[in-house]
Amino acid sequence: MQELKPARILAIETSCDETACAVLENGRALLSSTVASQMDIHARYGGVFPEVASRQHVLSIIPVVKEALAKSNLTLKDIDAIAVTRGPGLAGSLVVGMNMAKGLALGTSKPIIGVNHLEGHIYSSWIYKSGENVPAEPQFPLMALLVSGGHTELNLMTDHLTYRRLGSTRDDAAGEAFDKVARLLGLSYPGGPSVQRAAEKGNPTRFKFPRAKLDSPYDFSFSGLKTAVLYAVNDLKKKSATLPVEDLAASFQATVVDTLFTKTMRAARDFNAKEILVAGGVSANLPLRETFQSQSEFKVHIPAFSLCTDNAAMIAAAGYYRYALDHTSELGMDVQPTWPLS
Ligand code: KG4
Ligand code: ZN
Repeated sequence: MQELKPARILAIETSCDETACAVLENGRALLSSTVASQMDIHARYGGVFPEVASRQHVLSIIPVVKEALAKSNLTLKDIDAIAVTRGPGLAGSLVVGMNMAKGLALGTSKPIIGVNHLEGHIYSSWIYKSGENVPAEPQFPLMALLVSGGHTELNLMTDHLTYRRLGSTRDDAAGEAFDKVARLLGLSYPGGPSVQRAAEKGNPTRFKFPRAKLDSPYDFSFSGLKTAVLYAVNDLKKKSATLPVEDLAASFQATVVDTLFTKTMRAARDFNAKEILVAGGVSANLPLRETFQSQSEFKVHIPAFSLCTDNAAMIAAAGYYRYALDHTSELGMDVQPTWPLS
């Protein structure tokens, strides 16, 4: 593989409800990462309230950037390029990070790189904490399962920054299904961690929920599963005052994990992938991690727990490969709230 030029990237991420900044060396060594979460604010609405998110980003962005830079023990002079999430995400949130990044790039005369948030999630597997053991780099051809709040898709990567989308969800994303089922079961926002917690004490085989049968083996559909949970909840409520929340959560989670695992394995075999990568917020799910790590016939890369949900380190990693492979952006670029990876 070609030797890429060394570079330190400062990256900004504000696509949803986390204001984040990170400094990363040579695409892999993490020098600092700061994430200011708005989760507690949005929890009272049961989901992200876009206008509130945008205002919070305005309040947090300068302190977050200053903190990340200070923790890296560097100054802006030591940074080679500024990376920023350009999309997909909430327009009003993306704009705050984009303007901050443009200001930094303009003020320091450094290049700017607009990064796709989904590409960022994928590149989180390249990152390690500076000073710690260097983990093996993911090898191509790589089958990448992306499972976040807004996206569920399988991409074949034959090289850096090269994606062939084999399939995606026809309706709800896996994270969205976790969030909706959590609400059905009366569990708190965000749904993924609450469902996982409830499922710990539940019986995953008590309810047999359906798996969608689709023409393409690499596509996903989770809305039928969500409806099946709703019907089961309504049925049980008629019979008894107390819901078996733990068993429902465990049975739902087991169905999602099995679907994601089975489809990823099939795609990896069919397309002769060398390794597998799992990324996005749902990759924080413990049973999902355990299933991939213990049952896969391929080597599996799953990011460190702290890098699964939204952060700026992953934007710096993707930004580094874009910078090193001469894919920098124009200062005149705009945010792209809808932006498929391929
Ligand atoms: O990647 P992410 O932080 O934001 C987006 O880009 O969408 O993903 C957020 C999603 C949410 O739907 C959240 O419920 C889910 O990831 N999630 C989890 C877990 N932690 C976060 N889902 C299942 N189990 C978890 N432990
Ligand atoms: Zn995300």
